[in-house]
Amino acid sequence: MSAESELHASLKALVQKGKGILAADESGPTIAKRFKAIGVESTEENRRAYRALILGAPGLGEFVGGVILYEETLGQQADDGTPLPQLAARQGIVPGIKVDAGTIPLALAPGDEVTQGLDGLAKRLAVYKEQGARFAKWRAVYNVSDTLPSRMAVEANAQALARYAAICQEQGVVPIVEPEVLIAGAHTMARCAEVTEAVLHEVFHALHRQQVMFELMLLKPSMVVPGKSHPQQATPAEVAAQTIRVLRRTVPAAVPSINFLSGGQSPAEATANLDAINRTGSHPWQLTFSYGRALQEPALKAWKGQAANARASRDALLKRARLNGAACDGRFTAAMEGAD
Ligand code: 13P
Repeated sequence: MSAESELHASLKALVQKGKGILAADESGPTIAKRFKAIGVESTEENRRAYRALILGAPGLGEFVGGVILYEETLGQQADDGTPLPQLAARQGIVPGIKVDAGTIPLALAPGDEVTQGLDGLAKRLAVYKEQGARFAKWRAVYNVSDTLPSRMAVEANAQALARYAAICQEQGVVPIVEPEVLIAGAHTMARCAEVTEAVLHEVFHALHRQQVMFELMLLKPSMVVPGKSHPQQATPAEVAAQTIRVLRRTVPAAVPSINFLSGGQSPAEATANLDAINRTGSHPWQLTFSYGRALQEPALKAWKGQAANARASRDALLKRARLNGAACDGRFTAAMEGAD
């Protein structure tokens, strides 16, 4: 199969009405933080057990079309010996892989960060493909203040995202392009909108310059929200209106799907906001989720590292997946939060 036909086939499986993506690609330090919050030590066995638990949750494939994994997970197996990527694929969930190597401070730009991991990427992708990965993720982050991010950071991150996406498409791996405008800080919603618009313009300009095929990629942006410590938080309708306004100004209609990250929103907020976004009318792209914390937090809390809690943990994950599935169609109601 040519790289382009592979991309088409993977996208067809990934972009389905009422479905989103589960981000389960926490790096070593991040999963250690999540486990610490529930009193679990981050050993390789605990990570394997937890990820086998969530990927094997029966029925997850009804609301989740893809799962982003961390490199270690690609090589791990369920109790019965099934490779974890295959456990997901068995229920129609396409396995993907986080390929960036995290962020470092951007040189000569205090307060800004840049993502690394381009060196040797094509070779790594070939190995990940052998292990079952059909799409990839690269995350750029932007700190927000009155002066951040700098123009330098906006350009450097756009360049890296575009180089990554081009390498992925050449290898027949669908790129998820993730520019995350961070929620941390006391900035206003207007400032978040301004930064997000500048970031997305630059990202799509760079993608165009690097010949990336917009039809064969996914965008994973943050929503437009006030900073987490801003005294006035926004309603879902306000988040939806501002987010859609920025996306319509910046994202080409050729992009098939926009899969939001949750970025520190609570599970309930992330669902209500996605629902409000999908109630704003029709748009050129599918608007869905690629949540990490907003899908997994209740499942982690229910699990607490105990095999005996497996059922409760899976139920908690399925509930969030189902509610977010409803939000993809603008069918979510607050009453659904109360139901099991
Ligand atoms: P959150 O939804 O927790 O932000 O995770 C999504 C993700 O993949 C971050 O890179």
